[in-house]
Amino acid sequence: MSHRKEARVFYQAEKKQFHLSNDKISYIFKVSSDGKLLHLYYGKSLPNRDYSYLIEMHHRPMTTYRQENDLLYSLEHLKQEFPEYGSTDFRHPSISMKQENGSKITNFTYLKHKIVDGKPKLENMPATYVEEDSESKTLIITLKDNLTNVEVELLYTIFTEFPVITRSVRVLNKGTETQIIEQLASLSLDLPDADYDWIQLSGAWARERNIKERSLQQGIQSIESTRGISSHQHNPFIALKRKQANEHQGEVIGASFVYSGNFLIQAEVDTWDVTRLQVGINPFGFEWRLLPNEVFSSPEAVLVYSDQGLNGMSQTFHQLFRTRLVRGEWREKNRPVLINNWEATYFDFNEDKLVSIAEKARDVGVELFVLDDGWFGERNNDHAGLGDWFVNEKRLPKGIGSLAEKIRSIGLKFGLWFEPEMVNKDSQLYKEHPDWLIHTPNRKEHHGRNQFVLNFGVEEVVDYIFEQMCKIIDESKLDYIKWDMNRPLTDVFDHRLDFNQQGEVFHRYVLGVYRLYELLIAKYPHVLFESCSSGGGRFDPGMLYYAPQTWTSDDSDAIERLKIQYGTSMLYPVSSMGAHVSIVPNHQTNRITPIETRGNVAFFGAFGYELDLNKLSENELAIVKEQIKFYKKYRSEIHNGLFYRLRSPFTNDNETSWMVVSKDQKIAIVAHYKILNEVNRSYQRLELKGLNKEMTYRIDGQLYSGAELMHAGMVISDASSGQINEQNPRPETHDFDSRIWILTQEER
Ligand code: DGJ
Repeated sequence: MSHRKEARVFYQAEKKQFHLSNDKISYIFKVSSDGKLLHLYYGKSLPNRDYSYLIEMHHRPMTTYRQENDLLYSLEHLKQEFPEYGSTDFRHPSISMKQENGSKITNFTYLKHKIVDGKPKLENMPATYVEEDSESKTLIITLKDNLTNVEVELLYTIFTEFPVITRSVRVLNKGTETQIIEQLASLSLDLPDADYDWIQLSGAWARERNIKERSLQQGIQSIESTRGISSHQHNPFIALKRKQANEHQGEVIGASFVYSGNFLIQAEVDTWDVTRLQVGINPFGFEWRLLPNEVFSSPEAVLVYSDQGLNGMSQTFHQLFRTRLVRGEWREKNRPVLINNWEATYFDFNEDKLVSIAEKARDVGVELFVLDDGWFGERNNDHAGLGDWFVNEKRLPKGIGSLAEKIRSIGLKFGLWFEPEMVNKDSQLYKEHPDWLIHTPNRKEHHGRNQFVLNFGVEEVVDYIFEQMCKIIDESKLDYIKWDMNRPLTDVFDHRLDFNQQGEVFHRYVLGVYRLYELLIAKYPHVLFESCSSGGGRFDPGMLYYAPQTWTSDDSDAIERLKIQYGTSMLYPVSSMGAHVSIVPNHQTNRITPIETRGNVAFFGAFGYELDLNKLSENELAIVKEQIKFYKKYRSEIHNGLFYRLRSPFTNDNETSWMVVSKDQKIAIVAHYKILNEVNRSYQRLELKGLNKEMTYRIDGQLYSGAELMHAGMVISDASSGQINEQNPRPETHDFDSRIWILTQEER
């Protein structure tokens, strides 16, 4: 019997029960007798039945109750969809809304709902999308607070193809009073127990997205950003993993936030071990004044369910983000092999130097030349020039258009670096518009890398930068833009806004960033954008909606990158991770690694080079040529296939391995990295994943079944599993070694 995949939203009118489901998951809740939304179930797909019995109410002393003469119904003991504080629940709420009299008590209750095909677009904000209505169903529940006449719309989209539910919230002020929204979670999910490990991706500049794991405990565990960007410190993502689950099996819930500013993700475990997971804009530093007839929309939260461990969760995120978050021409196209001049020259370049790098790059097969920081204004170092988006004539006297033409005549595409959100005080822009930088009047403003942040919450500022950028893009017919952002926000204030709107500055800033991206993308749809924030300080799903790739980290050392790329792969697709081969000794770690290993790590990303190829030996150049040939041959499989993490650098301090398998399972690429060499070590097999067990694969001239490679494992022992001598003359192994195997299906 053929089974057509479908996303469904069932509504049982007599039970007032909503049930979103597809063939993989169910999400169920109901309306209580007094209009509250009570959560019933989230997990593997269930039949459409009445699940009201999952609500348990027992009398518990020291409790407050909803109804007089009733000692059962308390929100404190119930799982909910849109909790509020002050109405018998004492956990953190979804909303906090201050009214004109100062009260924050609200009572939002069910008013109506509708179920629509497809997925409504979020206004002015990034979000996952569908191309056909059949790809998803959306349930929109309207709640109303009768006293203030404020309505809240809860949007739930369930996808047909993916075990994914997205959520967002809109607040509509239909009353006559001004409301101050102090907090609005995009997602609040009450899970019936706390038997989970919490996984987060944390770090700092040059060591982003390291995997940290701990058991959930009573109380609150959270990650957040207060920096105005999603941050190097914490990525807007967490996973809740069942204790017995692992990389490839067991239940995992992943939550991600499609937002590039301050966020808060927290799990509050109450004294009965109910886990409340919440995702939203960080209430810290946030307030939004909502006048009558105005609407405030939250960003989108994405909830992924996996019964195949962390890797199952990651593959869902990868496919969703790659195909239904990334947009435009570059979603489908192979990414060009690029060369970036930053680590090759820093600020020390002229046209001749750039052209000589580009020529060498063309000879080895590079496709795109990217001119990084330093081509504009008086940007001779990092103290000046930001904001002046016109060519630095001392350095490039013939202009940017001429350089672009030259690069194109060599046979390469041309890309440029911008840092649109920033200004140096030593710039024309600052002289003309000192008022455009974010600052607090009469107080000293604080710099980061000698630079200040433009107030992108102000339309005029964004429009101006857009115009400046357009001139350069037109003049040089850009193919690619690297959009950098090198400091967090401080001194956050805007004198154009009222006293009770100062909590809006951060969010308005993010909306301004999104607006500039949108303007540029609409006008230049063929330009490939790479986002960047001192490496991966704003590597988030919000950015991916505009820029299909992100510079993963300023740390380009191959060994450091193992952890960074491994952690990043928790939810971001390989195609989104900018990864370059750089010079040795590495500029961040001083480490010397073989060029083969630098390539073998960078292949699992949006691949490129960041060095002066003129400084390489003939032998190294020959290797580079081969690397580029390899990447061009397999980039489609690497970017569009399924990615499997095999050995974790976070649990194995000497080894990492991962692989990709093409969609048709006919090609697989396996990579294994060993940090320090050993001698006389144990024999090694790597159990591969995702192959077709019925298929036969060729590896280095030998044939193997998919079954044996997955169950017995692929033998990866090398010379270090013994001693090299005359009887054992295998290739030497060394520190920072790596190997790549190509598996191709052998037709029988
Ligand atoms: C930080 C980025 O991460 C680097 O790749 C480079 O573009 C520099 N900024 C340039 O200032």
